[in-house]
Amino acid sequence: MKLSTPHLLGIKDLKKEDIQLILSTAQQFKEVLQRPVKKVPSLRDITIINLFFENSTRTRISFELAEKRLSADVLSFTAGASSVSKGETLLDTVNNILSMKVDMVVMRHSASGAPHFLAKHIPAAIINAGDGINEHPTQALLDAFSMQEKTGKLEGLKVAVIGDIMHSRVALSNIYLLRKMGAEVTVAGPPTLIPKYISEALDVRVEYDVKNALQWCDVANVLRIQLERQNQPLFSSLREYNLAYGIKRKLLESLNKDIVIMHPGPINRGVELDSDVADGPFSIILNQVENGVAVRMAVLYLLSPQTP
Ligand code: NCD
Repeated sequence: MKLSTPHLLGIKDLKKEDIQLILSTAQQFKEVLQRPVKKVPSLRDITIINLFFENSTRTRISFELAEKRLSADVLSFTAGASSVSKGETLLDTVNNILSMKVDMVVMRHSASGAPHFLAKHIPAAIINAGDGINEHPTQALLDAFSMQEKTGKLEGLKVAVIGDIMHSRVALSNIYLLRKMGAEVTVAGPPTLIPKYISEALDVRVEYDVKNALQWCDVANVLRIQLERQNQPLFSSLREYNLAYGIKRKLLESLNKDIVIMHPGPINRGVELDSDVADGPFSIILNQVENGVAVRMAVLYLLSPQTP
């Protein structure tokens, strides 16, 4: 079985069946990862390069581990230590690498659309590991996998995506995916961090009062304030953000219901999420990280030129 697309550039381009195939394949890989021998030969003789033009901890390690568990040959590249700093173009950098017979490219870039540009010009399978403020498809897939694992469904699930919706690629990919799978989505946060026409454009509800969003939802996916992408102040201070929009234990306790708490990391503890919630009984944040490896194995396997 293959996906309907040769690359994974964004959730926007995926069909519902593609998402289902990735999630069910990930389930099989998750079972493999519970065994004493966690390595399978599925990507033997496939060479993959991880091109990270922007910082990353979890995503990069997760992709590398997924590639190694699939027995691929793995190369990793960081922009700072490369000829990019000498003025080489993205296309030249990648073409030079491909001439060494690389089959698949995993790329993170600060420019939205960078992987889409590459996909038009090079003959390798490209996986977007986060492009600017656009998409982060594997994060949305691992989030959905974790939601489904915890609650048993996506269809009809009520998910609140809370925080910096405007600058978060995780928000956009989550919204595309959840709506395609029949989940209901409310975005919540300060008005300055929520795009004006998002409700009409993406078919989500908007809620400026976080307590109302929490009251409504089954799952809260809490996002980091992307200060590095904000070129003007969009709220008064981090402390005030925490007071008005931060997820706190007292707030959750006042609701008298259980809500699954998620966060893609890195967490700004005490800003969008307090430590006693991040480390509390309703948090599945570390399960998300664990599931990330299985989900990325599924994506790599399904896009590999060797997969029938
Ligand atoms: C996210 C990212 O880089 O987009 N992190 C991640 O991949 N786990 C979210 C973020 O940086 O806030």
